[in-house]
Amino acid sequence: MSDVDDLIAKNRQWALGKTEADPDFFSRLVRQQSPSYLWIGCSDSRVPANEIVGLDPGELFVHRNVANLAPPQDANYLSVLQYAVEVLKVRHILVVGHYGCGGVAAATDPAQHGLIDHWLSPIRYLAKERHVELAALPSDKARFDRLCELNVVRQVRNVASNPFVLAAWSTGRDLTVHGWCYSIENGLVSDLAVSISSASQAEALFNDEA
Ligand code: CO
Repeated sequence: MSDVDDLIAKNRQWALGKTEADPDFFSRLVRQQSPSYLWIGCSDSRVPANEIVGLDPGELFVHRNVANLAPPQDANYLSVLQYAVEVLKVRHILVVGHYGCGGVAAATDPAQHGLIDHWLSPIRYLAKERHVELAALPSDKARFDRLCELNVVRQVRNVASNPFVLAAWSTGRDLTVHGWCYSIENGLVSDLAVSISSASQAEALFNDEA
């Protein structure tokens, strides 16, 4: 059996297990998806969105890219965000970074990596911007961990200043943007305590961060 055939076999087992536990599981999903959460996370294979938070298909709308970025001009991310906010009407947007992120490491590595260096440039600028804070930390590991967190906070800021999100808040919508950092060492998520549920909270956070 080839590696890929093995995946098909695993898929059959998975689908059977779902139907055995809940015979209507798939027919319900066909009718509608109504997730309450949008996940913006890293493409890293060690950070599987649904699995980490124990959610089933239909419960989490997911956007992943290298280093969990939310770039204000990226049409892919913006399309996902608009659909999640305006059509699915999610109540929570989870920006989820992770410690040990290869994208964050590559952004601060002086070596050239090709196209990805363009994608990661916001993190490179962020590291320069926060140079004093990072330099004061006791080790390279501490600096790396902190930059992973700072990147999440910056992406939370991008999401919270997005026009679709601001428009939702202006109509009184219940919508919160959260910043989390996941540890691939122990499987635990840390809440970075930068949750934002309104335009005025967003202003306050950005002023603190500046
Ligand atoms: Co990563």
